[in-house]
Amino acid sequence: MSLEGQVAVVTGSATGIGRACAVRLAQDGADIGLLDLNAEGLDETRAAVEAEGRRCEAIAVDLTDRAPLFAAFESLRASLGFLEILHNNAGGAFQSAPLMIDYSSAKAGRVGEPEDIAHAVSFLASPGASYVTGEHLLVAGGRTIH
Ligand SMILES: NC(=O)c1ccc[n+]([C@@H]2O[C@H](COP(=O)([O-])OP(=O)(O)OC[C@H]3O[C@@H](n4cnc5c(N)ncnc54)[C@H](O)[C@@H]3O)[C@@H](O)[C@H]2O)c1
Repeated sequence: MSLEGQVAVVTGSATGIGRACAVRLAQDGADIGLLDLNAEGLDETRAAVEAEGRRCEAIAVDLTDRAPLFAAFESLRASLGFLEILHNNAGGAFQSAPLMIDYSSAKAGRVGEPEDIAHAVSFLASPGASYVTGEHLLVAGGRTIH
């Protein structure tokens, strides 16, 4: 299920889950726009995306700063073309510490890896998910945290 000819934007993609998802979407065939505060990390992610043979533009921007964020999206659109896929990965950091602890004892019997999220993102961005609308997909190794 190829994303050839499409463009995906991944926020919070300088590291961790965002980076894994950006690389996975590049492997699926998409060109990639990267947005994050961390310019150094963005350089590493861009190198990993380009190693997959895809075009990549990375912009260091604070996602909470409206005007620069809009300018960044406009710049991505100008350089990469129509932006079909948005993976808004940054922004829910307040729960990450307890989740990491629970992941280690999850029913899957192993710690969650960034690539576990990337598999799900790859599916949801794919043509195979074109009939999936408004679904909540739990990717948590078998344990639900409240
Ligand atoms: N790691 C986990 O166990 C886990 C579990 C559930 C949900 N999540 C969520 O998934 C997302 C990614 O998790 P992660 O572990 O890769 O996090 P991370 O902290 O490693 O990466 C988050 C990225 O977002 C960037 N970022 C944060 N605020 C930003 C801002 N205002 N503007 C631009 N960039 C900003 C950071 O620079 C960083 O590169 C987060 O929203 C997190 O809350 C993580």
